[in-house]
Amino acid sequence: MKPIKVVILGCGSRGNGFAKRMAELPEKYQVVAVADPKEICLKKMRDILGIGPEACYTDWRQILSQPKVADLAIIATMDKDHYEPAMEAIALGYHLLLEKPVAPTPEECADIAHAAQEAGVTVLVCHVLRYAPFYRKVKELLLADTIGTPMSLVMVEGVGHIHYSSSYVRGQWHSEAESSPMLLAKSCHDLDIIQWLMDRPCKQVQSFGSLTHFTPEQAPEGAPVRCADGGCPVGETCPYNCMKIYYEDRTERNFYRRGITKGISTKRIPDDEEVLPVLQNTDYGLCVYHANNDVTDHQVVNLEFEGGATASFSVNAFNEGGRYIRIFGTKGELYANASDTEIRIFTFEGKKHTAVSVLKTDESIVGGHGGGDDGILRDLYESLAGTYTGHSIATIDTSVKNHFIGFAAERARRRNTVVSIDEYMQELGFENRYK
Ligand SMILES: NC(=O)c1ccc[n+]([C@@H]2O[C@H](COP(=O)([O-])OP(=O)(O)OC[C@H]3O[C@@H](n4cnc5c(N)ncnc54)[C@H](O)[C@@H]3O)[C@@H](O)[C@H]2O)c1
Repeated sequence: MKPIKVVILGCGSRGNGFAKRMAELPEKYQVVAVADPKEICLKKMRDILGIGPEACYTDWRQILSQPKVADLAIIATMDKDHYEPAMEAIALGYHLLLEKPVAPTPEECADIAHAAQEAGVTVLVCHVLRYAPFYRKVKELLLADTIGTPMSLVMVEGVGHIHYSSSYVRGQWHSEAESSPMLLAKSCHDLDIIQWLMDRPCKQVQSFGSLTHFTPEQAPEGAPVRCADGGCPVGETCPYNCMKIYYEDRTERNFYRRGITKGISTKRIPDDEEVLPVLQNTDYGLCVYHANNDVTDHQVVNLEFEGGATASFSVNAFNEGGRYIRIFGTKGELYANASDTEIRIFTFEGKKHTAVSVLKTDESIVGGHGGGDDGILRDLYESLAGTYTGHSIATIDTSVKNHFIGFAAERARRRNTVVSIDEYMQELGFENRYK
């Protein structure tokens, strides 16, 4: 098959990451046009892809107002800006690699799924964890009946206290109105994985959680509103001191320094002169207790599946960062930390402990999202080429259905109740579509 022609709509962190990966796979992908209003993002794309200015646009609308110029559109704009380009690209017959969350409302998600089905195009949602060697291996172990039928599952997502403060307190996902609820923005991956692994319809959900720590009430006495102004009485010991996170570490490993200057600097290690104004003038310089944020900092979701199996998921800010999973089956138990290279199994018969290696000869767990960012591009290519034989790819209907569980969980949390998925779907008018 010839390389798949691609347009990238939104060239921030995600669009840029996909461009870099595609530039290394010229036999599979050829990026022919990109769009972003920020010139610096377009410049980075020209450098990565070797494309000329004529292939760079300042708005996705300029690409999608033309007849179709490629096979695949990557939608990597912000959460609230997926719907419009997705619908327009589908109408033109593009296949989509669509960033998660699909959209911030169930109605928009359903519209996208419906339009894709009508147009007969593939829409692959960037639930990248499905494509990471770790989760692929867990799925394979379940399919091989290693622990029997999963009856219960516990999954924890530790967002990491610094990552949380940077993205969900000071950063782009700090406000539900501007982006989407934390459960959707951060954990639609995990809810998708849970349903993929449990592999039967979810029947009801319950959820608790709130924003309790990163609030003005928790601010140390005398803490200034702008951390970057200095003079904070706890500045020396506060882990969220913006100077410590973004400024003092001038090494390449400080991706937070790069993150806050992504629309400003082209350097691997941004200069002090590029970083300081960001801290002085934007939310990245705010005290984390005075940041006008409103998304939850801890949340739990309980799920019950058809037949009575259960799952329990917890996401919160108060940790170093990382995910772990424990699955309890009728014949054994599986447990692992997603950053480890081993999955441990205990089988009831013979009381046997085994460790299964996650590394495969042709794969490395190094890379974006534990290898998921590379994995999704490999699988997508095979899927469009018609040679795909794996288990990771989900249809847009499945991805959207899995998003609905997140929306239902949010309703359960806000209303302090248990939400029946069947009733929720009925209320939305989707009951016949998503069984
Ligand atoms: N799959 C994952 O694991 C994962 C990880 C991080 C982020 N995301 C999601 O990816 C999406 C993008 O996140 P990001 O971190 O790259 O954000 P970002 O802000 O770095 O990138 C978004 C880009 O869209 C551009 N944009 C805005 N309006 C535009 C328009 N009219 N036309 C073209 N471009 C336009 C912005 O200038 C910006 O550069 C978000 O929905 C986010 O939730 C997914």
